[in-house]
Amino acid sequence: MSLANTVDSDIGKAKTLPSAFYLDPHYFELSKEHIFARSWQFAAGPEADVDLTPVTLLPGYLDEPLLLTKQGKCLSNVCTHRGKILVEQACDANLIRCGYHGRRFSLDGKFLSMPEFDEVEDFPTDADDLKEIAVAELGGFRFVSLEPAESFADYADGAKNLFRSIKAPLNLTETRDYEVNAHWALYCENYLEGFHIPYVHKSLNEVVDYGSYTTETFRYSSVQTGYGDKGEPAGRYLFVFPNTMFNFYPWGVSVNVVEPISRAKTRIRFLTYISDESKLNTGAGADLHGVELEDEAVVESVQKGIRSRFYSHGRYSPTREQGTHHFHRLIAEFMG
Ligand code: FES
Ligand SMILES: [Fe+2]
Repeated sequence: MSLANTVDSDIGKAKTLPSAFYLDPHYFELSKEHIFARSWQFAAGPEADVDLTPVTLLPGYLDEPLLLTKQGKCLSNVCTHRGKILVEQACDANLIRCGYHGRRFSLDGKFLSMPEFDEVEDFPTDADDLKEIAVAELGGFRFVSLEPAESFADYADGAKNLFRSIKAPLNLTETRDYEVNAHWALYCENYLEGFHIPYVHKSLNEVVDYGSYTTETFRYSSVQTGYGDKGEPAGRYLFVFPNTMFNFYPWGVSVNVVEPISRAKTRIRFLTYISDESKLNTGAGADLHGVELEDEAVVESVQKGIRSRFYSHGRYSPTREQGTHHFHRLIAEFMG
């Protein structure tokens, strides 16, 4: 079944994505090419500032070995001879040399030399260079796209202003992985509404004013803002479709990258960047671990619930679930 027109543009009329999207292995597999290869994916933060930084895009799902260079390129990290991974660890270097048979490449991916290949005909060609992958930067964070459906400038429209508000450098102080027994999209749609805060997050609800909570949607991203009791933003939540979350707090930024493992298992990478230590443990970003566990419990419960023969889809609150509606519309668009 095509998902193309499953979610009405009118939130008051719309039904949510059918539960088959989360349960059927066919959709999980199809999402690789339709959603994850064509969207922009988080690749690295400002800390990756050496000449060569290897990254695997979505380990266990897309599994694409990539190489970020200090000059701002993204290359395939696979040798064009027999396919060995070229760079295993972040390092400074002035060229790339394969550890299998010695093929060499420049830092911009051009084939340089290869032992014992003098008699090979029609060699080298462009196919012996490392493939270049689309890469872009936002507030010091690098994004890549294997087959971009849209340029990054249009993709990140609406997100740029949030990064301008960061005045001090961001220091990566903690990385932590969570694993949740649920489909990746269930995790995202929980993130995309503040509707559940009074019910699920008792302590967060005390620092975020539910009444003034706002959601803005852009073409491929959305921003939610929770205000504190003095009317100042306690937390701003930027979602870049389909799986990157930037949470702006008075003390800095917490990044969550949502990585599918299987239909019912998802890894969430938490990267904590501090810009103002004196504001740590204040506002909506005070107990991120506790809030995370509360969300995981709810999302895992939904994972069980949607398997019921009596559940096929739901509806949206027009005042509280604009972000979830927007996310489902994008999924339907990419999958269609
Ligand atoms: S695999 Fe790289 S030189 Fe052979
Ligand atoms: Fe939550």
